[in-house]
Amino acid sequence: MGIFKDVESNVRSYCRGIPAIFTSAKGSEMTDENGTVYLDFLAGAGTLNYGHNNPILKKALVEYIENDGVTHGLDFHTEAKAAFLHAFNDIILQPRGMDHAVMFPGPTGTNAVEAALKIARKVTGRHTIVSFTNGFHGMSLGALATTGNQHHRGGAGVQLGGVFRLPYEGYMEGMDSLTYFEKLLGDPSSGLDHPAAVIVEIVQGEGGLNAATDQWLVRLESICRKHDILLIADDIQAGCGRTGTFFSFEPSGIEPDIITLSKSLSGYGLPFALTLIRRELDQFEPGEHNGTFRGNNLAFVTAKVALETYWADMDFAHEVQAKAKHLRARLTEMAEDTPLFLKGRGLMSGLSCPNGEIASAITKECFAQGMIIETSGPNDEVVKCLAPLTTTMEQLNKGLDILAAAITKQNLKASESA
Ligand SMILES: Cc1ncc(COP(=O)(O)O)c(C=O)c1O
Repeated sequence: MGIFKDVESNVRSYCRGIPAIFTSAKGSEMTDENGTVYLDFLAGAGTLNYGHNNPILKKALVEYIENDGVTHGLDFHTEAKAAFLHAFNDIILQPRGMDHAVMFPGPTGTNAVEAALKIARKVTGRHTIVSFTNGFHGMSLGALATTGNQHHRGGAGVQLGGVFRLPYEGYMEGMDSLTYFEKLLGDPSSGLDHPAAVIVEIVQGEGGLNAATDQWLVRLESICRKHDILLIADDIQAGCGRTGTFFSFEPSGIEPDIITLSKSLSGYGLPFALTLIRRELDQFEPGEHNGTFRGNNLAFVTAKVALETYWADMDFAHEVQAKAKHLRARLTEMAEDTPLFLKGRGLMSGLSCPNGEIASAITKECFAQGMIIETSGPNDEVVKCLAPLTTTMEQLNKGLDILAAAITKQNLKASESA
């Protein structure tokens, strides 16, 4: 354990709450150096929706490597990229009537968000981006400016500008932030510069599993349309099936101008991100937004197979929806007669605790009993279930039994509050 403390930077974080040395992982389980097996309800922070070392994806990847497939090729045309683009177009874009250009930014989520913000500003010639309280969009400076969390913002070292913050749906009782937004937009003296874009998470992952209603999203979209403001959906955590549909915004029927995807897109934990840009907005000059690692060929291979395996029909989506219903029913049961309450949507649901100490005690106890699970929220007060979507019902129940026992152990009284 000393090597990490002695050599690795102080900035390491997840490993502090989950202090095991892992050696292997399969499906929804991770094994440490002592042979202890943990159920994984974190899934690389939503990166492994199809489980660790998914055998179907692994087979394709191993074959590709054995055939000396291109592993890095800048943004050269490769066979792997063409195959991915065909699959993404045929399985995701066309059936949904989406005419978005597929841009490969750098390989992480924050790269996709940077590209989204930049193109919105370039196309509109405006600088202000509207983002929401408790929004989380990444750590690079542009994305960080749109992120709410003060702990992260404090690390910037420069002023984080160009962003106007609105309360997310339900942020304050009785506060209708969209009416407020419209009022500001219609008032030439409100002080709000005409925004280039609004960036929104349909379910706020890091912000504490706040889920926007379809009505709110539809209204947000209509305000954007009315005032010629671009709508960016950050689907990095909630996308790739996490909430029961490939894009989390599908049930609402909104049509975002720009969409960011990353995390589970490769399906194998390989870094990979996309910025989808409505065709008319695809206005970067060649190389204007450049980078060395734009398009990860290994990720193209696994992402293509993941799309073909899980998204070519509705079976997997229905399976995820059924598991989500079960998860949420069991979480609701656990919350009964306690101060905890259900949050989130789909297989991105969890329980809000009166404070971060209680949430941390619950996740620590889960770890002691063989389950990896994390918290989110402004005070880390939400215990968040992010199990792989491929987790079996048996594993889901096993994990939920561990969680229920950890909650019972806290002896929480319904009257206890923050
Ligand atoms: C909604 C959302 N956007 C952006 C990011 C940033 O992604 P990355 O950590 O890969 O830069 C995250 C990461 O958790 C996220 O949840």
